[in-house]
Amino acid sequence: MVLNTIRDADLTGKKVLIRVDFNVPLKDGVVKDDTRIRAALPTIEYILSQKGTSLVVMSHFGRPKGKKNPEFSMAPIGKRFAELLGKPVKVAPDVIGPEVEKEVKALKAGEVLLLENVRFYPDEEANNPEYAKALASYGDIYVNDAFGTAHRAHASTEGVAHFLPSYAGFLIEKEVKFMAPLLENPAHPFVAIIGGAKVSSKIGVLQSLLKTCDTMVIGGGMAYTFLSVQGHKVGKSLVESDYLDTARDFLKAAADKKVNVILPVDHIAAEAFDENAAPVAVDAVDIPDNLMGMDVGPKTIALIKDAVAKAQSVVWNGPLGVFEFDSFAKGTLDIAKAVADCKGTTVVGGGDSVAAVNKFGLADKLSHVSTGGGASLEFLQGLPLPGIVALQK
Ligand code: 3PG
Repeated sequence: MVLNTIRDADLTGKKVLIRVDFNVPLKDGVVKDDTRIRAALPTIEYILSQKGTSLVVMSHFGRPKGKKNPEFSMAPIGKRFAELLGKPVKVAPDVIGPEVEKEVKALKAGEVLLLENVRFYPDEEANNPEYAKALASYGDIYVNDAFGTAHRAHASTEGVAHFLPSYAGFLIEKEVKFMAPLLENPAHPFVAIIGGAKVSSKIGVLQSLLKTCDTMVIGGGMAYTFLSVQGHKVGKSLVESDYLDTARDFLKAAADKKVNVILPVDHIAAEAFDENAAPVAVDAVDIPDNLMGMDVGPKTIALIKDAVAKAQSVVWNGPLGVFEFDSFAKGTLDIAKAVADCKGTTVVGGGDSVAAVNKFGLADKLSHVSTGGGASLEFLQGLPLPGIVALQK
């Protein structure tokens, strides 16, 4: 995948329209995690470092359902953005309309204007060309650095690219640089660790990575559906009865391809799905009837660690247990540490595993931590992301 990047653009004297993903968690009007804002700074700083440039920044925040709603205003995000950028950021009163047009026109070199939430209009998600054209009128060129929203074919992520010369920012470039090889030509041995609660939401990723991986670790709640089709007792663990055939077919395909599948061989279980439930070690694959699997056990952790230690590339998506409950976080923590210690290329994607890596303070030790939740999941499934397709050479 070859992208037009901002390195290819002559930015001198240009008004640059940039789409970023500043969809960040807010609490009481304060940004709680500014990772996504920081992740866009290299591109923004690069653009502003070019002679005579000014910047119109657009993002969505939350899901205001096409209506103007102050709860979803970009204003508090603009405040944090200005602090991180170290210069004033003006927040426009709206996304489109004469007042915004006036502010865009008045922008001087070096100045930054953040538009209001692009999802205040239903035309954003509908990818209405008229809305995209109105947005496009704000810039001489368009830069997309919103990897987290690249799986959405919306006006500000895809539509605008039809009206302006379009380039990828450094963040999109970096995300693709680390993730594309996993689907095409990873360094071997390649270990894919896929966790999470449901087979239904991860089967696409499992099937896609099966094509290139040597070892596939299946953990988290979805592992019990796989153990169940292998004829194991899983007690009260989560089993998706609609996905038993899918799980069976997947295991057969993996065996045909001689991919080493690691499923839990022991567990930390509990009587109920409860933060205060007493953890019970189950030193066997089979789980007693009164218990449900909540985390992987020490033997499983050792198996995964061994595979990861020998890997040249690792991708990890989805927690291995209920890591948000302290008693059931060890499997996810130990695997996060093992991935952080791996000498190969290590990529973590998906909201929950990224949250786990951040919770354990290990993000700096990984080759790449994706800023995309749904976007990285779709990318790893091999699906075309409309926001990125629009930037291809
Ligand atoms: C995300 O947080 O995953 C992105 O910002 C996309 O948000 P969305 O799922 O509301 O489109």
